[in-house]
Amino acid sequence: MKEEARKRFAFVIYCLGVASLSLSIIWSGNLCRAEDKQTAAEKYKPASETPESLKGKQIFQAHHCASCHSSGTGGGCLGPPLLGVGARRSREYITARITDDKEQIEKFKNLYCAQELMPHPRLPKTLATPLVAYLMTLPEPAQGFKVGKHAGQLAIKSEPTKKTLPHQTSVALGKKLFYEKGCTACHSMFGAGGQFAPALDQVSNRLTREQISNRITQAELLALGPSFEYQERGTVMPPCDLTPSEIKEITDFLLSLTGKK
Ligand code: HEC
Ligand code: HEC
Repeated sequence: MKEEARKRFAFVIYCLGVASLSLSIIWSGNLCRAEDKQTAAEKYKPASETPESLKGKQIFQAHHCASCHSSGTGGGCLGPPLLGVGARRSREYITARITDDKEQIEKFKNLYCAQELMPHPRLPKTLATPLVAYLMTLPEPAQGFKVGKHAGQLAIKSEPTKKTLPHQTSVALGKKLFYEKGCTACHSMFGAGGQFAPALDQVSNRLTREQISNRITQAELLALGPSFEYQERGTVMPPCDLTPSEIKEITDFLLSLTGKK
């Protein structure tokens, strides 16, 4: 009888082993498939050029969008690069971001973004529609983007600290700097901004003041060409020449978003 029970026990263990082995095979199969999906999703197909999109390209140039955005082999680095923007943002989002149509402005605030940090250029529908058509034709860089995270600490410790500003003044200055120093090229704030790095509106729930300010150093975003070389002027390197007081101001601003000091 005892022998019987031992055999039954061994059989149950054997069955459990087989079951978990087959489960793990199915699971790893699923993982592979998930990865396949990811690579398929990476191959973003931009819209084809049309007379309307070509008109949009001219509007892009005429309205100096490139002073803040790169869209190929040139452009600024204060806003997110627009190469392959259609892979990261919907047509509806882009439209709501750049038209001066009242309904669309409300839509942007309510649907996409609780709060606009700074006003973004907005154009009448007649110009915005072809402009969106143009943006949807922009392909992703051949090998995507390389995002270089913040590199070490800046050697800026020696600058004497300014006399301490009232907290609200410091927060307001930090908010302005956040835009002017190109943080939104990579980071989003309340849903608006770059999709290349963590969103920063809740960062003080994750990190301490010290951890945040230590992170505010040089970072880079590179558009990669066909054989992983950097594309001509594909380097998007926001100026991060920040002084200790500016770093403190930006940190004060980031902390203030969740009510911390
Ligand atoms: C003064 C700098 C500046 C100028 C000029 C500018 N932008 Fe922007 N743009 C930004 C910043 C910063 C962001 C990110 C934060 C935001 O969405 O408000 C942005 C976001 C965008 C986005 C959303 C991208 C994304 O991935 O979320 C689009 C699309 C866009 N801009 C298009 C344009 C177009 C088209 C023009 C020209 C009419 C233009 N921008 C002019 C700074 C600028
Ligand atoms: C070129 C892209 C890029 C730019 C521009 C950039 N960052 Fe970052 N940032 C990253 C990446 C990537 C990470 C995630 C890796 C890391 O923590 O270093 C990050 C992480 C952070 C974090 C930590 C977030 C977390 O949840 O752990 C903070 C805070 C931060 N950045 C602040 C800033 C500020 C402030 C600016 C503007 C002065 C800025 N960043 C500009 C790429 C960028």
